[in-house]
Parts: sequence; C-alpha cells; structure tokens
Amino acid sequence: MGLPKAVAVLGSTGSVGRSALDVIARFPGRFRVAALCAGKNAKMLGDQARRFRPAVICLSEERAAARLGRLPAGTRVVFGEQGMTEAVCAKATDTVLAAASGVSSVRPVIAAARLGKRIALANKELLVMAGRFLVEAARAGGARILPVDSEHSAVFQAIEGHRREDVLRIILTASGGPFRNRTLRQMREATVAEALGHPTWRMGTKISVDSATLMNKGLEVIEATWLFGLPPSKIDVTIHPQSVVHSMVEYRDGSLIAQLGIPDMRIPIGYALSYPERLPLELPRFKPHRMDGWTFETPDRRRFPALSMAYAAAEAGRTAPAALNAGNEVAVDAFLSGRIRFTDIAKVVESVMAGWRGGRRNVTLSDVFRADGEAREAAMRRISFIRRP
Ligand SMILES: NC(=O)c1ccc[n+]([C@@H]2O[C@H](COP(=O)([O-])OP(=O)(O)OC[C@H]3O[C@@H](n4cnc5c(N)ncnc54)[C@H](OP(=O)(O)O)[C@@H]3O)[C@@H](O)[C@H]2O)c1
Repeated sequence: MGLPKAVAVLGSTGSVGRSALDVIARFPGRFRVAALCAGKNAKMLGDQARRFRPAVICLSEERAAARLGRLPAGTRVVFGEQGMTEAVCAKATDTVLAAASGVSSVRPVIAAARLGKRIALANKELLVMAGRFLVEAARAGGARILPVDSEHSAVFQAIEGHRREDVLRIILTASGGPFRNRTLRQMREATVAEALGHPTWRMGTKISVDSATLMNKGLEVIEATWLFGLPPSKIDVTIHPQSVVHSMVEYRDGSLIAQLGIPDMRIPIGYALSYPERLPLELPRFKPHRMDGWTFETPDRRRFPALSMAYAAAEAGRTAPAALNAGNEVAVDAFLSGRIRFTDIAKVVESVMAGWRGGRRNVTLSDVFRADGEAREAAMRRISFIRRP
C-alpha cells in the first residue's frame, strides 16, 4: 500500500469536507491530512487541526484566527488565496480535495493541477467558471481530475475504458428537489427552510437552494462538458426522485451503463481519493426490494428556467458560464438572507445573462475573474430594484 497519501482538504468545515475527513479518519494507513482550509469557521477548523494534526491550516481572513484555540506544535496558520495556494502546492501534498464553496479556490487548485497533484473535485463552480484553465493545467502537469460530485463520479465510472466516439450521450439524474411538484405560485411563496429541505441528500445551503431551482443540474451540465470533453448537446438531464441511479452513459449500440447506490457522499469522495482502488466503506447496504419503483421524468423548464439558462451559457462559452455562476451566487445569497423571493433567483440570473456579452474569443483567466465581478455587480443592481418579500 505504501505511505499514506497526504490530502489537502479545502472546505474542511463544510458538508463535503466533513464527509471527506470521516473517510480519511477511517483509513489512517491510506490517508493522512496534509492541510485543512476553511472560510471563517475558525472554531471548527481549530478542532479539526487538533484531531488531524496537519502541517498547515488556512482561513480566508486573519480576523477569525483568534477563535482557532491552541494548535498542535507543528501546525502553521496561513490566510487567504495565497495561503491556500501554499497549502495545496506544498511538496508534501499528494491530493487536493477541492470542496470549498464559491470561487475562492480557483487559482490555488489550478496551481496544484499544474504541479501534477491529484485533484478530487467537488467544487463545480470552479469548473463552470474556469474549466478550460483547470483542464489545461492538469494536462500540462500530468494531474488527474477525479470527480466527487455523485453524478459525475457515476459518469466517470460508466465511461472509463470506453471509446469516446461510441458515446451517444450522458444522462445526468436529478432528484427534482423539494419543489418538484409545486406550482409556480407555490414556489413564489417558498420559504428558505422549504428550499433547504432536499428530499434525498444532506448538503450545504448554497447547493441545496441550487438543487431546488435546478441550477445545480445546469452547473453540472457545464461541469460535465469539461470533465468528459463532450458538448452540451450530448448531455441530457432526467428527473429521478429516488436518487438511486446516480447517472448513466448511453452508447451507440443502444447499451446504457449506469452507476447506482445509496445517496451518501462518502462513496464518490472515497473513490476520488482511492481510485483505482475501492475502499471497504462498510455503509448501509442497498436493498432493491425495499423500493417501490424507480421513475424518470422530463424536467419542466418553464418552472425551472435555470436549466435552459445553463445550457445557453454552456453553448455560448467564453465568460458566459462565469457570469451565470456569479449572478446565481449573488441571487441565492439574497434569497437566503430574505431580500428576494425564491422565484426571483431565476429572474436575477436571467437579467444578468440577457445583456451579457461573451468577451473575446481567447478569454484569459483574468477576463473570467473580471466577468465574475461584473456579473456580481449586475445581479446586485437588479436585486436593489426588487421589492422585499
Ligand atoms: N454537499 C454536497 O453533497 C455536494 C455534492 C456535490 C458537490 N458539492 C460542491 O462542493 C462544494 C462544497 O459544498 P458543501 O455542500 O460542502 O458546502 P458548505 O457545507 O457550504 O461548505 C463550504 C465550505 O467552503 C468553505 N469556504 C467558504 N468560503 C471560503 C473561502 N473564501 N476560502 C476557503 N474556504 C471557504 C467553508 O468554510 P466555513 O465553514 O469556514 O465558512 C466550508 O468549509 C460546492 O462547490 C458544492 O457545489 C457539494
């Protein structure tokens, strides 16, 4: 088995990060924690540092450091994007588990890929915003990008070893979220608590709201274009409320290969960390006879316009996906803080994208970050005109 792999966990205090630490803790002979990075939750980060004793921990802001508490003797504290870059690029780091929310880790993860580190990628915003740059960096550095998103992990498992020209399409499954059967009028009155009530998965707040608007699936379509080198026209979405089939790949001979399992993020996290081996996770076993049946439905793009907006951004390319992502982040934040209604989220993103010009053909990473800033401002302007619910 060799030495344990040294993992830098970005977003260690979040839903995916905590599940990753659970997997790492179960297999001390295989993994050790090289670095932990979080946003502002210094209290939890300090607790994690005492338990896992990493060489480096990183917080987004220096102000929060006072709440870290007493740290193990060998643990250094660094801050912000530069600190995160240092943590992931350290010689000792083998694998980067990218699960910080938002776009804070874009440059650090690209730098780690350029150095050939394994990237276990949960953060879909990163690929949506800067997919080309991450894929190019990984190619240049000989790094592998292993998907952590359950749908992309499923596609990865169903597509590996097959010829790309034999693939007809990828079918991403979506639970449909908590408002699958709600009318538009009911969705207009939806509360934050209702939007966070995902039927099958327990996740962070932002991704839970994205699952309720179906923007999450739209972002996953863009993510899949980069991970599997396929155009958006070869990626379909189907609503599968039972969340048993995590996604499938259809081949030109009519075969469909799907990956199934219980909804537990430790499965795709473990696979991304240990690939090509599979970890004996000893989770509750899947019991097919306990299920009433599996259903598949076409998504309703009228009630969930985010999906069409994401396809349009994927087709437009250049800076459009970054603008979509940024406008959505601002809108979701406004909904979570009670400034707009649930149905306003799509309206805000729509207004950002309506006037969006894609930028020059060969966009640079700086262009993408500029687009991110401009789209955020446009979204905030639009929100300022919306009457509070
Ligand atoms: N949850 C899932 O099941 C799931 C599935 C597939 C993909 N994903 C993707 O994985 C990512 C994380 O999702 P999540 O549900 O785990 O989110 P979450 O529970 O909200 O956690 C977000 C994590 O990111 C950290 N963070 C926020 N801002 C940061 C910054 N500026 N610098 C460094 N760290 C920062 C947070 O730190 P603090 O706690 O200190 O704020 C926290 O550790 C997202 O991109 C999401 O789309 C999640």
